[in-house]
Amino acid sequence: MNPISRAFRDALGHFATGVAVVTARNPDGEALGLTINSFASVSLDPPLVLWSLDKASDRFQAFMKVKHYAVNILSGEARALSQRLSRKGESALKGEALREGVHGAPILESAIAHFECQIEARHDGGDHIIFVGRVLDFGHAGHGHPLVYFRGRYRELTELEG
Ligand SMILES: Cc1cc2nc3c(=O)[nH]c(=O)nc-3n(C[C@H](O)[C@H](O)[C@H](O)COP(=O)(O)O)c2cc1C
Repeated sequence: MNPISRAFRDALGHFATGVAVVTARNPDGEALGLTINSFASVSLDPPLVLWSLDKASDRFQAFMKVKHYAVNILSGEARALSQRLSRKGESALKGEALREGVHGAPILESAIAHFECQIEARHDGGDHIIFVGRVLDFGHAGHGHPLVYFRGRYRELTELEG
């Protein structure tokens, strides 16, 4: 990586985020997932959210074909899952407890919140594609703590006193 992009990534890494897994079914019905931290809310009415997908990802073609997907917000206990679904070629959701969303996207039982989306728009974003999703269904556990990503490391959230 060139020194400017390294420095750019390092600076971006100072923005602490949660960690999510985007899940969908490919045309064969196989459940696939990808670890992301580019998730953001966009609009309340209509309810829209976004995330961005690296054009160089080996999951790129698969995600460009889906019409529905789910964004699953990970708990602090899901670090191993996050690591696995960020490895090259490791997109299968084997061994994960899943349930079927109302529109067919697989949902991780362990997620602390989920947003089931239909593709609203896709925008070019340099070396990424920005997926804007219309939220068709959502839910949250109301408890559990999130997995946090900051400066290239997984962290846990701690509450400030007072
Ligand atoms: C915490 C974290 C956040 C990530 N966020 C994104 C993201 O928002 N978009 C993306 O395309 N890849 C993201 N990645 C990278 C992918 O999870 C994955 O590592 C990469 O796509 C693997 O290569 P492959 O898709 O070619 O198999 C993230 C990885 C980690 C560990």
